[in-house]
Parts: sequence; structure tokens; C-alpha cells
Amino acid sequence: MTNLDNIVSLCKRRGFIFNGSEVYGGMAGTWDFGPLGVSLKRKIMQEWWHYWVEKRPDIYGVDAAIIMNPKTWEASGHTATFSDPLIECKECHQRFRADHLDESLSEKVTTEEITEADIKCPNCGKSNWGDVKQFNMMFATHVGATTDDKSLAYLRPETAQGIFTNYKNVIDSIYPDLPFGLAQQGKAFRNEISPRDFIFRTREFEQMEIEYFVTPDTWKKHFKELLKDCHDFLENVIGLPREMIHDEEVAPEDRAHYSDRTIDIEFDYPIGREELMGIAYRTDFDLQNIQRASSKNMEYRDKNTGQSFIPHVIEPSFGVERLMMAVLTAAYTEDEIDGNKRVLLKLPEHLAPYRFCVSPLLKNKPELVEKAKEVYDILKAKYHNVTWDDSGNIGKRYRKQDEIGTPKCVVIDFDTLNNNTVTVRDRDTTEQERIEITEL
Ligand code: GAP
Repeated sequence: MTNLDNIVSLCKRRGFIFNGSEVYGGMAGTWDFGPLGVSLKRKIMQEWWHYWVEKRPDIYGVDAAIIMNPKTWEASGHTATFSDPLIECKECHQRFRADHLDESLSEKVTTEEITEADIKCPNCGKSNWGDVKQFNMMFATHVGATTDDKSLAYLRPETAQGIFTNYKNVIDSIYPDLPFGLAQQGKAFRNEISPRDFIFRTREFEQMEIEYFVTPDTWKKHFKELLKDCHDFLENVIGLPREMIHDEEVAPEDRAHYSDRTIDIEFDYPIGREELMGIAYRTDFDLQNIQRASSKNMEYRDKNTGQSFIPHVIEPSFGVERLMMAVLTAAYTEDEIDGNKRVLLKLPEHLAPYRFCVSPLLKNKPELVEKAKEVYDILKAKYHNVTWDDSGNIGKRYRKQDEIGTPKCVVIDFDTLNNNTVTVRDRDTTEQERIEITEL
């Protein structure tokens, strides 16, 4: 497997991902997506939406506001408990996420544990620590013209609550049969103490979450089914290699405050095996809390038995950036062709930013350029994600298209003018075949 630096470098060089606000010296924990990156990201998100919402009869979409009534975060427990352990080195005054100082430490780490383990400051090498403090990760903002306690609000730290707060609206409007799910894609914000590892841990990221509402006695069955669907999506739709994906049962003491069971689905990233996504059994924790805080009835009335109860919830939660980093990791390949080293992204055809690249063999031959434009127009009308490249020599064009993952390069040469055939060159094998334009 390659190292992360190679992926970061390719992403910058080829217009996938840039440092956020780079022109002003950057903004820690933020990343911007360039033309190629946004294309890959959107394709991943579209595949997800198609798989979970459009193809299934039992999952519906919602799209809630990012800034929600602050009561949301009190009821959900985020105001009180959505925090990470923060520690400051008394020598150099650098702050760190305490549990990230050593692999042996958990999120519940104490100052005593750090002192006993004689953990050194990664910045100055001394071991003179302040107390571990809980640092709330929600980004605060103020809504309206005043800046006081009454105008305080937060950028959502998870998309899930925008689903829970619309559960009643959905029941009252479309009244779906139970079990049913509500799905949402969108931005989430967390003031991470130490954002790191490229787009793996950022302060602003995108989530794709499903809250799947079930009868309390059937949660185990649905948990198992949804876990299987998550694997099906990751392996068969996104094309991640099965052997790089691992299930990790999260120990009770490490689970989020709302969960009675969590499985983290981990991936072999260049930084090691890390969480790609999670699936959690959230019980009726959220709907009970909303009912208590809003005094609105959150019960579901069974259409057959007439019985009313508060559903329990299974939550598959995907992070878009972590999925994208997994796709890039799996696709990044280095090989040697005729003694020349090359880098390529073996992206699945349906995720590649461009499906075809069309080129005239020579840029300075108007008849070739004109014919190539014709072919480009045909493919563009049919597939949309088709690019044009007439820069440099043909070898350089192939290298560039290999690096951005374009599966096929179509080249128009003098033979094309005579017999309407083109050369199609395959990204992975580099083999070329001659086919008729009508066969493309
Ligand atoms: N609603 C449940 C929830 O938010 P989570 O484990 O905190 O659970 C779910 O987050 C997923 O969101 C993670 O598995 C990961 O893919 C993504 N994620 C969380 N924090 C992230 C961060 N700081 N940067 C990038 N992705 C993140």
C-alpha cells in the first residue's frame, strides 16, 4: 500500500483536493474539493442515495436545516456530553486530544493515566501535563443581530438529529409502514482538537445517515440486515476490496452515549486500520428525549394492531470524506510500463470523474481536431462525463488520464479520417484496440 503523502500529492497535483483557504495560508481541518474531487465525491453520494433511497421501498429522504433550534442539542445530549478529552502541555502550552497521545489510551483517559504512562509531549518532548478537560466539539454561532445567550445556536455536529426532528412530520404527512428509514446527506461540523490525516478527520465534513425505525423486539434482526447492506454497498456498489474492510464490535465503555450496540466498519487506510463508518442501535433514546423536551407525542400507531409505541432505531452512519479516502486508497496504484514508472487510479468506471478522454493525435492538424470534436460531441451527449485533451504529446496525455483514473482514452488519427475507426486505450492494461466510432 502507498503512503498517505503520495495520495495527498496526487490529489493536489491533479485537482481533486486542496487545503481549505490555501491562498490565505490555509484553515486547519478544512479541505476544498477541486473539479475532479467534487466529481468523485458527488458520484459516491449519488450512488449512496440511489442504493439506500431510490432503490428501496422502505427508506425516504429528508434534507433538514444545518442550524437547528438549540433545544435539539440539549435533548440529544450533545450539549452535555459531545466532548473530547483535551490536555495542555504545561511546558510548551500546545494542546492535544489526550486519547490520541498514545494508542493504549481510551476516550475516558485521565491525567493520572497519562502521568503514570510517562507520556511525552509530541511537541517539546517533556512530560509536564495539565489536567484532562472535556472540550465540547460543537461549533457555536449566533443567530440574528444580537450576540447573547438567547441567540446562541450551533452548527449541527451530526445529520442524524435533523432526521429525528422530522420523524413526526413524516408520520403525520406520509405515514409509512414500519419498519421504515429516513435518510439524509449533508454537512456536519465538529471542532476537532487535532484534525489530521488529510480528509480523515476534519472540522467540516459530509455525512450520509439513515435512521431506521423498527419495533423494539425486532432490532437485532434489522441490525444484522442493515450491516449486511452496508457491506453490500461498500463492496459491490463502491467497489472497495473485501479484504480491506473489517467489522469491529465497539466495547460498551467506548460507545457513544446513545448506543446500546455499535459496530465500526474499519478500513485499511495508509494511516492504518481506522473507522470508515459505524452502525449503531440507538434504542428509543432520541425519540424519547424529543418527546420529553417538546411534549409532542412520538409514538407510532401500528396500522394493523392499532397499538402505539415509540420505535427503536438502527443507524448506519457514513462519512463521505472517509469513504472517498478509502476509494482513493484502494485505487492508487504504481506500476511499470516498458521500464517507465507510472501512477494510476484504478477507479471503478462509474466513479471515475471522466469515463472517456477524447484526443486528436496531433493538435496542429485541423482535420484531426475537427474529427475528434465530432467524436467528443457524440460521447459527451451520451455519457456527459467525457473530457477533451490535446495538450502535450500522446504519452503525456495517457499519464495524466491514468492519474485521474479515466478508464478509456479515445484517439483520433489519420486512419480515422479514412475508415471512421478510433484507437481506444485501456487505463489498467494500457492495451489499445481499434474500433469503429459507432461501436463506442
Ligand atoms: N450520527 C452518528 C454519528 O455521527 P460518528 O461515529 O460520530 O456517529 C459517523 O460519525 C461517521 O462520520 C464516522 O464513521 C466518520 O465516517 C464520519 N466522521 C465523524 N467525524 C469525522 C471527522 N471529524 N472528519 C471526517 N469524518 C468524520
